Amino acid sequence: MKIAVSGKGGVGKTLIAGGLAYSLVSRGIKTVAIDADPSPNLALTLGLPIEEARQILPISENKELIESKTGTGYAGVFRLSFTVDDIVRDFSVITPFGVNLIVMGTVQSMGSGCTCPANAVIRALLRHLIVERNEAIIMDMEAGIEHIGRGTAQHVDLMLIVADANMKSLETAHSIYKLANQAGIRQIFLVGNKIRKSLEEKTIESFADKNSIKVLDFVPYDQTILDAEMQGETPLRHKNSVAICAIERICDKLVAMAKNN
Ligand SMILES: Nc1ncnc2c1ncn2[C@@H]1O[C@H](COP(=O)(O)OP(=O)(O)O)[C@@H](O)[C@H]1O
Ligand SMILES: [Mg+2]
Repeated sequence: MKIAVSGKGGVGKTLIAGGLAYSLVSRGIKTVAIDADPSPNLALTLGLPIEEARQILPISENKELIESKTGTGYAGVFRLSFTVDDIVRDFSVITPFGVNLIVMGTVQSMGSGCTCPANAVIRALLRHLIVERNEAIIMDMEAGIEHIGRGTAQHVDLMLIVADANMKSLETAHSIYKLANQAGIRQIFLVGNKIRKSLEEKTIESFADKNSIKVLDFVPYDQTILDAEMQGETPLRHKNSVAICAIERICDKLVAMAKNN
């Protein structure tokens, strides 16, 4: 099961990605969570104390690692072929709920033609995690899909695009939908988050209908989530909160879909 979670900043990607990863692990499914957001904070949601989260050096910023993988000793010339399974072994962090976390860091946009070594390492690592390994993958990513190179996108089973009832987040969702479609991601669903009233659900549903996007589910607005995060705690411990229950239900649906595929 290889799942990408995308959407505009602040819509709830990290909560949903973290919640799904936790839910998969609770079902006995080995899971790697990938933080591919340039300002990563999935570690906190996965229950790591703030001091430990701060210590994580994103792969793209680990100069020593990048150099050891791609360096040739000649300036401007770098290797394109290197091992990455050892990176998963050595640089993933095991979080309190049992989810393995890898923090990727920033990737330059594909259009910029950047071929810098950090991009090469991240792309190869993602390809390895998505195409070659058996663990379930939940990837928390920014609105762009730069991290996923061509050739890898087809192997992402499913993308969830998170949006709230705000037209800006829905517009961003639509742009992501088009990009993900072009890149060859096979199943793409919208998840409506922070729902306070039925009008919000209806707004999201009608936007999705108009743009031929399928809605997978809705997650209610939940003060428990905000209260937990205000204290610097992971909201995922609140198993009975309405938002976490909804994420659990989404996980049920994803597992059922994976079984039918
Ligand atoms: N269902 C929800 N109910 C209430 N607050 C939420 C909900 N989902 C997310 N939030 C809050 O919204 C903010 C942004 O969520 P986050 O998951 O960090 O978004 P993103 O990763 O998309 O930027 C956080 O403060 C989070 O606690
Ligand atoms: Mg986030």
